[in-house]
Amino acid sequence: MNKNTLKKALSKLPLGDVRYFDSVGSTNNEALAWATSGAKDLSLVIADEQSAGRGRLDRKWFTPKGTSLAFSLILRPTADEKPHLTRTVGLAALAIADSLRTRGLVAQIKWPNDVLLNGHKVAGILTESVWSGDEADCLVIGIGVNVLKGAVPSPELLQFPATSLEDALGPAIQRTEVLHDILAGMLALRPHLGSSSFIATWEKALAFRGEQVQIEGGGPAPITGKLLGLESDGSLRLLDEHDNSITVRFGDVRLRPRA
Ligand code: ATP
Ligand code: BTN
Repeated sequence: MNKNTLKKALSKLPLGDVRYFDSVGSTNNEALAWATSGAKDLSLVIADEQSAGRGRLDRKWFTPKGTSLAFSLILRPTADEKPHLTRTVGLAALAIADSLRTRGLVAQIKWPNDVLLNGHKVAGILTESVWSGDEADCLVIGIGVNVLKGAVPSPELLQFPATSLEDALGPAIQRTEVLHDILAGMLALRPHLGSSSFIATWEKALAFRGEQVQIEGGGPAPITGKLLGLESDGSLRLLDEHDNSITVRFGDVRLRPRA
């Protein structure tokens, strides 16, 4: 990937400005700083390599050179979008899953922020905000996709198995085409962020729906239950063994199939 191939691939999308780096610490850090200093809506930061890519709670996200997609899209939410910002992780996850489905793959969303292929993590999302008082002024949606095999960290570094698009589709896969499709998908979904059909579409794409799962990190012991679906803010709905409904809010929680 270089500036020219990128420019060509994105030329038809109504983005803001684009900043490309051969190598950067974290595209989310760049995007947060840029958002703070006035980046336009839909500006994009993209890098061929990240030396300090982050997941949630500063856990590491590996982005070796030439193998992955690592980018951050800046959203300046409208007044209509502001009540629905907890749904933006779903917007990104659906756009990633759709881009994989158009390539004939069965992609599922592991709530809240991962996309799976055949039960293996192929992409992750990290959304962060720039606040103005108690309102989110800007949102940064960071997306990492394992495109080539070399993007996938060795198993001992992982808490959940991972895969790449190359594993599923072979080596001809083009990073810039996948990037284009994910961004186009996000742009197309954005006007529907506040609709009830948005939640229904997100629910349908969830991994482990109707299955027993456990939630780790939400308290001293894991929470277990059947995964039912989503609340209107994107929180997860489970049914425990006594048929009580449980709501799992966004936070440092990890979803696993029940052991
Ligand atoms: P998980 O359910 O995989 O533990 P999570 O989304 O709850 O993921 P995060 O901290 O948000 O956990 O994501 C970062 C985690 O993703 C790291 O702890 C690491 O295990 C894993 N990881 C890092 N780089 C990659 C990668 N390129 N592909 C797949 N997984 C990765
Ligand atoms: C996760 O699974 O926890 C989320 C990983 C998010 C990684 C992307 S790569 C682009 C952007 N920059 C970062 O430092 N993180 C996100």
